[in-house]
Amino acid sequence: MPTTKSRRLKAEKSSGLNGTINVPGDKSISHRALMFASIAIGESAISGLLEAEDVINTAKAMAALGAQVERYSDGTWKVRGVGVGGFSQPRDIIDFGNSGTGVRLCAGLVATTPIKVGFTGDDSLRSRPMKRITDPLRLFGAKIDTLEGDLLPMRIVGSENTVPVEYTLPVASAQVKSAVLLAGLNAPGKTSVIEPVATRDHTEKMLKAFGAKLTITEDNTGNNQGRTITIEGQHELTACDVTVPGDPSSAAFAIVAALITTDSHIIIKDVLLNPTRIGLIDSLKEMGGDIVIENRRESGGEQLGDIIARSSQLCGITVPASRAPAMIDEYPVLAVAASFATGTTRMEGIGELRVKESDRLAFVADGLENNGVVVRSGPDWMEVDGADTVEGGGFVKTGLDHRIAMSFLVLGLASEKPVTIDDGNIIATSFPVFEELMIGLGCNIKSVDETE
Ligand code: S3P
Repeated sequence: MPTTKSRRLKAEKSSGLNGTINVPGDKSISHRALMFASIAIGESAISGLLEAEDVINTAKAMAALGAQVERYSDGTWKVRGVGVGGFSQPRDIIDFGNSGTGVRLCAGLVATTPIKVGFTGDDSLRSRPMKRITDPLRLFGAKIDTLEGDLLPMRIVGSENTVPVEYTLPVASAQVKSAVLLAGLNAPGKTSVIEPVATRDHTEKMLKAFGAKLTITEDNTGNNQGRTITIEGQHELTACDVTVPGDPSSAAFAIVAALITTDSHIIIKDVLLNPTRIGLIDSLKEMGGDIVIENRRESGGEQLGDIIARSSQLCGITVPASRAPAMIDEYPVLAVAASFATGTTRMEGIGELRVKESDRLAFVADGLENNGVVVRSGPDWMEVDGADTVEGGGFVKTGLDHRIAMSFLVLGLASEKPVTIDDGNIIATSFPVFEELMIGLGCNIKSVDETE
């Protein structure tokens, strides 16, 4: 297996962050645009695609399954799809690298296509649970083998005699919801997913744009059934051009950096503001963060706008469990913001953080403790005691987790002593231009060798 030399990065105290940036395209939307275009009839053009390792692995997977996927010199990607259920037998096992979204959504597409596909990933992905998708995908008739413990590598033999499925999500997960809906695309009749707690809805929105027969009903009876999403299977999708807006989960690092450093004022343009994704902005505003949204507009069925963030004195809050799905990837950087707030920030209902690219609850707690922050955590909660000054000076293990890496570099921009992370290479899975953009805003981030 190829090994890349690790690259330590150090962040030092910075102030006066200033400038206007665009963050790269949204990761969730990028994966979906490539996948849906790959099973649509005709050619779809995708602009603003996130060209990061996770998404490139999805592009390669779609090509391995028979779609024509091509990048043009102006950065547009053109995809000619094979039709619903039209994937061909790949010649090799498919490697999704670090990406849970890539592997889980693709597993849904394969489960109702009569081909045999092997799936694997890097050390992080091979330790993440697959039972959450193998359980519902077996209901469609797919035969699935995994490594013991429901881990990758996994082999799916897609069902030839597929049946539709009605499935209530046992965990609030857009990946599981999407895997089931995508399997339902090639099942006869109607497949329904019942979602007790709303999660990101890009799959529903984009499938509709590609012409899927999809309906959503909300339960208003007070029984708290949530939403039911129903897809009519074996109906072709039609090619659709997609413009990918900026990723709010990447913008999060620049926003928190501006809030916790002095004399900062930054603008991030064209960011996705889908309500199922902006829990961090709501939380930071509640903490007293000076964040303003301008130029709100709608494009391609999604809301977007420009985010202005300025230095702020934050105060601790309780982030309710109900907000977790709307900011599930942003807790590490929220914990960093909380370290500089007055009082304690309590985050509830965040057990899902334990099965992300790393056990994020454990890595955040360790990283904060290494830098002098008082933190307490339990199975599904965390409390961070804020302080006027954070000592810093710690060495942070990132556990093959891009968001842990970026969050602790942000901590180092405002702590007294610099913060060093063990390996910045993993940042390329979601935000390859992170260093360049942050340095451009005035952040002191640099590579260091192992003696520094
Ligand atoms: C994603 C859903 C979330 C999120 C992940 C991307 C998606 O995972 O953490 O980074 O694109 O559907 P879960 O749905 O499993 O919580």
